[in-house]
Amino acid sequence: MSIRSWEEVRQDFPILQRTVNGKRLVYLDSTATAQKPRQVIEALSHFYEHTNANIHRGSYSLSMESTHLYEEARARVASLIHAPENGVVFTRNTTEAINLVARTWALDHLKQGDQILVTEMEHHSNLVPWHIAARATGASVVGVGITPEGRLDLQDYQQKLASGNVKLVAVTHISNALGTINPIQDLTCMAHQVGAVVLVDGAQSVPHLPVDVQALDVDFYAFSGHKMCGPTGASALYARPELLESMSPFLGGGDMIDQVYIDHSTYADLPNKFEAGTPAIAEVIALGVAAQYLQDLGMERVFQHEQELIGYALERIQEIPELIQYGPIGPDRAGVIGFNLQGIHSHDVAGFLDEHAICVRSGHHCAQPLMRALGVGSTARASFYLYNTRQDIDLWIEALKDIVSFFKE
Ligand code: ALA
Repeated sequence: MSIRSWEEVRQDFPILQRTVNGKRLVYLDSTATAQKPRQVIEALSHFYEHTNANIHRGSYSLSMESTHLYEEARARVASLIHAPENGVVFTRNTTEAINLVARTWALDHLKQGDQILVTEMEHHSNLVPWHIAARATGASVVGVGITPEGRLDLQDYQQKLASGNVKLVAVTHISNALGTINPIQDLTCMAHQVGAVVLVDGAQSVPHLPVDVQALDVDFYAFSGHKMCGPTGASALYARPELLESMSPFLGGGDMIDQVYIDHSTYADLPNKFEAGTPAIAEVIALGVAAQYLQDLGMERVFQHEQELIGYALERIQEIPELIQYGPIGPDRAGVIGFNLQGIHSHDVAGFLDEHAICVRSGHHCAQPLMRALGVGSTARASFYLYNTRQDIDLWIEALKDIVSFFKE
């Protein structure tokens, strides 16, 4: 297959052709949700126009085709993260995937005195489910701090692991607010040495870098379809099949059973045991197309492109002395820039950028403990993906300069 230029790849995304306020759309919020290539959009309509039928239930052609496409999507998603197919459970989003583990594995395994080790850079979706599990089991949630550069404090991590009571480590692969890439393989190795199980929030990593869940040796890995060019409503949890085998089901109902009697039931084989009810069939199939799309581009290449963009952006922000950026400088930095302009609220920054057709998120980014650790109420955040260009960054920088001079007047 010939290598496509990034400009050519950008043409796959119809929304990027539109204008806002009469200006070229500059989409810098892929950390919240990514834009969709034509291939994914067409997969959704193609399914409804040609195949629509429920899965795993019918012995007629449409249903069998639908089941085939759904399971093909599982194979594609599994291949992207180097997982066995029976270790991939489809969920609505990363939040649901983490809640699945918190409501099943955690309730079955945690008890009074146990600790769940999280970090100060977690998204709320990797905190609140553990608060709920801790309340139900008597376990406690303990947080690892961050360094002034926005890296995980590895000394603190080791010390807290050494307490002897950590049963679960729940950590993000890439911080959604700082862009920090955490050393998951090392963190997992240290956690396993003390017998703790590791869950990784991969919402910001699977879309942006090569992920091999088996090489990382993680136990659970949750990620979102809509952040990797797929539709909303279809995401996945990877879990070691032997762990899934031993876990209670999350939701009960159709499609997750083997035999049902009036007073009890037995469960389907993996991974169906964890997929109760009719799933988001079209969305899962389109997620499979997104996974294939990324694999065809090559995740190492996607990562290199974003490294080039973040390097350029970090260089250019130095032209704005009023800009404070949060996050490490180095190869452990993904394409995310959390920032503030001195004396200007982040919501005002986002509002002004919108006038220039530039989309950034502002606020606490569902990471309130991190905002407290940084000593700020909120930040603005620009994030880059495979369809962004140096021109996008130039337009963003020029708009930021305009905002600074407007507020100086
Ligand atoms: N988790 C998404 C974000 O960081 C919604 O914006």
